[in-house]
Amino acid sequence: MEIIIHADATQVATRAADFITAQLGHKPDSVLGLATGSTPVATYADLVRRHQAGSLSFAQVTTFNLDEYVGLPPDHPQSYRSFMNKNLFDQVDIDLSRTHVPDGNAENPVEVGPAYEATIDAAGGIDLQVLGIGTNGHIAFNEPTSSLGSRTRIKTLTEQTFKDNSRSFEAGEFQPRLAITMGIQTILEARRILLLATGASKAQAVVDMVEGAITASCPASALQMHEKTTVIIDEAAASKLTLRPYYTWVLDQQDQIRDTFGNPW
Ligand code: GLP
Repeated sequence: MEIIIHADATQVATRAADFITAQLGHKPDSVLGLATGSTPVATYADLVRRHQAGSLSFAQVTTFNLDEYVGLPPDHPQSYRSFMNKNLFDQVDIDLSRTHVPDGNAENPVEVGPAYEATIDAAGGIDLQVLGIGTNGHIAFNEPTSSLGSRTRIKTLTEQTFKDNSRSFEAGEFQPRLAITMGIQTILEARRILLLATGASKAQAVVDMVEGAITASCPASALQMHEKTTVIIDEAAASKLTLRPYYTWVLDQQDQIRDTFGNPW
């Protein structure tokens, strides 16, 4: 894993937006895997600004979101479809018909997963998957003990995730306990992965992911098996890492290799 540590969440967002911009520069018709949650909001806002400034187009981009709550219609304010429309899609030049979010309101939610996987395959697979991380180490809604070989399916949320995500819902409002989520194996098949984490509440999950054993108890640790994962975090989320000087040293060396031998993108 490539570990990039910035002073604060604003710098994390800028660096993440640089990363996504570079991906679209390299391949304007990229297939992007996108995440919801509070962490990527600033990154999406930065991408919107770049689009408005005329330097970034999503016209040829296809997207697949990681997950959706079961039981929320797409136009529900708390649905992940609404989140994506509001924070990114409605503000850029993307073709909405090429944006995909699992249908949490399907008559038969069991059928959604295999169909979603087939649509990802038909699009040629995901070029760059953006991820956040839950305080319990989940990625998408793959909760601890999720199979590392899992594919898109229904998952039951843990009490911890239910509580963490309750801040988005009004008191007394229906909050789903089930979600449809890409599996860990689905995520690992993306060609590149970009994971973002900010804030002290993510510090334990981050150290478990980067320096812990590969285990279903920390689903994000499965990313250790991915060839091209970049982790961009702020100081607070990095605070429990023990090999920090090494990560900085690696980045310095990579810069030198790039300067000498070119960008291996
Ligand atoms: C949800 C999403 C995840 C996200 C996580 C963290 O559970 N399913 O994809 O990474 O929240 O959210 P936040 O960025 O708000 O901490």
